[in-house]
Amino acid sequence: MSAHESAHSHITLRDHQPRSALAGSVESPDRTCPPYSMTSPSPAPAAQAPQFSENWFEHNIPHWERWLADLRGKRGLRALEIGSFEGRSTLWLCEHILTADDSRIDCLDLFATDPVYGDYHARFRANTAAHAHRIREFPGYSFDGLRKVEGEYDIVYIDGWHSAFGALADGVMSWPLLKIGGVMIFDDYMWVPLKYGKPKKPNRLARLWAKLRGSHWRQEALLKQIRGMPTETPKLGVDGLLATLEGHYELLGSGHQLAVRKIRGFDQGQVGHDT
Ligand SMILES: C[S@@+](CC[C@H](N)C(=O)[O-])C[C@H]1O[C@@H](n2cnc3c(N)ncnc32)[C@H](O)[C@@H]1O
Repeated sequence: MSAHESAHSHITLRDHQPRSALAGSVESPDRTCPPYSMTSPSPAPAAQAPQFSENWFEHNIPHWERWLADLRGKRGLRALEIGSFEGRSTLWLCEHILTADDSRIDCLDLFATDPVYGDYHARFRANTAAHAHRIREFPGYSFDGLRKVEGEYDIVYIDGWHSAFGALADGVMSWPLLKIGGVMIFDDYMWVPLKYGKPKKPNRLARLWAKLRGSHWRQEALLKQIRGMPTETPKLGVDGLLATLEGHYELLGSGHQLAVRKIRGFDQGQVGHDT
């Protein structure tokens, strides 16, 4: 974790802070889907340390550093993020990969006031204020936002609607927007909704048996849980997408998240059946 990251404060809504305090006081211009402003190239410094109510991102950093190593700092990069929430992953991308001043990110999110998290959109804006001139927001369902954005992107991060259909649809709609050589990352590939509880730890013998087979009991228990409710979690959708893309991607990593590099494009459509 860099010195800057460790300076990011972590808040929880249990702190009972007033929403205005959580949101910070940074006044942002309207960033909703404008063309990137080239009139204010110098980033405004963030008025305060970023404030987050959840940390759904930092455990991924070692993987992202490897998957995105080739892209780091390149000029003119373009990223697409589906599911930005308070901007934790957005900020990391801006600070570590999209560091050139002409690199950009498009953020698709509901950006609505949430019964649990309140005005997280205000926190997104405050947290990413230093990079506002490089960020475009597309509020609403990703299916609508994905019809508005145009490729090509170097990075696509899919962390929005965590159903199998949501992951599949976001993946299908954004795959043609990804450059050949670009990286697509799915969050929560091996995720089970909280209501299903943690995977059950089997006895020592079963754990050892899993290890001898080159597996891990936790992985196997998670897979078993996912098989019990396949449509409620992204894995089925991601697997379905990848099955159709055989030969078009290189697998970079698969665990809690899954990442692929696009290695081949499509010839889209044909007129006769065999052409
Ligand atoms: C897990 S959070 C994203 C976390 C963020 N990437 C981070 O690192 O902190 C998921 C986000 O996806 C958004 N979301 C859920 N369903 C969506 C949909 N159908 N379209 C667009 N955004 C959606 C939610 O509003 C939420 O902000």
